[in-house]
Amino acid sequence: MRRPLLLLLVGVLVAVTGGCSWGGGSSIRAVEMTRPLPVPPLASSRTDDQGRRVFDLDIREGSHDFGQGAVDGTWGANGTYLGPTVRVDRGETVVMNVANGTEETTTLHWHGMRVPAPMDGGPHQMVPPGTTWSPTWTVDQPAATLWYHPHPHGRTAEQVYRGLVGLFLVDDPAVPAGLPDEYGVDDVPVVVQDLSITSDGRLDPTTGATTAVGFVGDTLAVNGTIGPYLDVTTELVRLRLLNASLGRVYDFAMADGRTIWQVASDGGLLAAPVPTTGVQLSPAERAEVVVPVRAGETVRLVSRPPDLGARLSGSALFGSEPFDVLELRAADTLAASDRLPDRLAEVPDADRDEAARTRPFVLGGRTINGRLLDMERIDEAVPLDDAEVWAITNQTSLPHNFHVHDGQFRVLSMDAAAPPPGLAGWKDTVYVAPTTTVEILVRFTEHHDPVWPYMYHCHLMVHEDQGMMGQFVVLAPGEEADPAGLRALAEHAGHSG
Ligand code: C2O
Ligand code: CU
Ligand code: CU
Repeated sequence: MRRPLLLLLVGVLVAVTGGCSWGGGSSIRAVEMTRPLPVPPLASSRTDDQGRRVFDLDIREGSHDFGQGAVDGTWGANGTYLGPTVRVDRGETVVMNVANGTEETTTLHWHGMRVPAPMDGGPHQMVPPGTTWSPTWTVDQPAATLWYHPHPHGRTAEQVYRGLVGLFLVDDPAVPAGLPDEYGVDDVPVVVQDLSITSDGRLDPTTGATTAVGFVGDTLAVNGTIGPYLDVTTELVRLRLLNASLGRVYDFAMADGRTIWQVASDGGLLAAPVPTTGVQLSPAERAEVVVPVRAGETVRLVSRPPDLGARLSGSALFGSEPFDVLELRAADTLAASDRLPDRLAEVPDADRDEAARTRPFVLGGRTINGRLLDMERIDEAVPLDDAEVWAITNQTSLPHNFHVHDGQFRVLSMDAAAPPPGLAGWKDTVYVAPTTTVEILVRFTEHHDPVWPYMYHCHLMVHEDQGMMGQFVVLAPGEEADPAGLRALAEHAGHSG
C-alpha cells in the first residue's frame, strides 16, 4: 500500500514543478527539425620520420552556437565544441599530441582502444594547463567506432558535458564491401548529448544533479546542433551512434517503427547484420545501424523510453514519450546502395570454458565491491592472456553500466539469459539492470605493466566522478603489482599538476 501513495506524491510533485521531475527535467523538449546536421571533420594528420601518423588535438574552451544563439562554457578539440573524427587503419602507429589550452587539468582517454596503460589517458595521465601530452601506440584491433573523451577523476562529467568528445574510427581491410562507407554522405556520425542551456546562455552541468543518474538535460544536441536534419542521397544510410550523455539512456528507433539493421556494437562489426526496430544505448555505448530510406520521404530517428529493467525504482526516469533525434530527408532520386553483406566479420564464439577464473564485481549505490576509487590502490591484478569471467552484479535499484579499459570484451549472459544478438559482438560498456548480474568474458593481451593501472567503472559519468571506479593491472608471468611505484607516480603528479 505504501508504493501507490509514494507514486501519487511524486505525481503531484511533477505537476507542481511543471513536469520537471528529477530536478533537471527528465524528458527532452520538442523542437523543429530545421538545422542541417553538421558532420565533425576528419582530423588531419602527418607522417613523422618514423612512419607514425601524428595528430594534433588542441583542447580549447569557448562558446558554441547549437542553433539558438551562442552558448558559453563549451569545450572542444581543434574547435570550441566536440573534436574532429580521428580515423586510422589497423596496424598504424599513432602519435596523439594532446595540447591543453584550457585553465583546468584534463586528459584524453581512448575509449575502447587496446593501448599500453601509460598511453590510456585515464586519471593517471593528467595534462596540466599549457602542456602537451603525446602518447603513442600501435592500433591493433578490428574496425570499430571508438571515441575519445576527458577522464580526470572527479571532473570527467563536467568536461564531457562541455563537449570535449570525438570519434576515433578504426578501419580494417577485413571489412567486406557493401557497407555504406562514404564519410558524411552515407556513413554519418551521430553524437548525442542531452544538455540544459541556462536562460543566460551557458552550459551548467550542476543543474539537475539530483537524479538517480546525476545530470539529465532537457535539450538534445546531435553533433552539437539542436533540431537537426540530414539530407540523404542514397538508399541506405549508416549511422554511427554514440551516446555521449552523462546519464541518459536512449532507445534509438525510427518513428514509423521500420526495421533497420544493426551492423556494429562498441568494438566492431557484428558477425552479421541484425534486423531490429530499436537499439538501446547507455552512456558511452555505440552502435552502427543501417537505415533504408525511400525516395522523397521524410522519416525521423527518435528515442523511445528505454527499458531499464523490471526492478528499477522510478519508472519514467527519462520521460515516457519518444522524442526526435534526427530527421532524415530523402532526395527525390536516390543513388543505389549495395546489398548489405550477409557476413560482416569473424566474431569468435564467446566460450566461458576458456576462463581461468571468475571475478565478482558488485555494484552498490556508488561503490564497486564495497569501495570507492582510491587512485593509489590496485584493486585487481589480472594475468596477461588469461580469459576470465567478470560477473557484474548490480545490487541496487538504480541504473548502472560497466566499462573496462584496454580493449573489448564479450557478454556471456545478462540476468542468466544469453545476450540479444546486438550485444553478442565486441563490447566495452554494458548496461547492468537493477538487481541483475551480467557476465562478461575478458582477456587482456600484449600490454602489461605492474605499476600503471587501467580502470573499470560505471560510465554514468556522475557516478564515475563520485568514485564508482576501480583499478586493475595486467601482469606478465613473474610480474607483481607495484602499488609503491604507483604511489610514487601519484606523488609526482601531485607535485607537477
Ligand atoms: Cu569512456 Cu574510463 O572511460
Ligand atoms: Cu574507456
Ligand atoms: Cu552507476
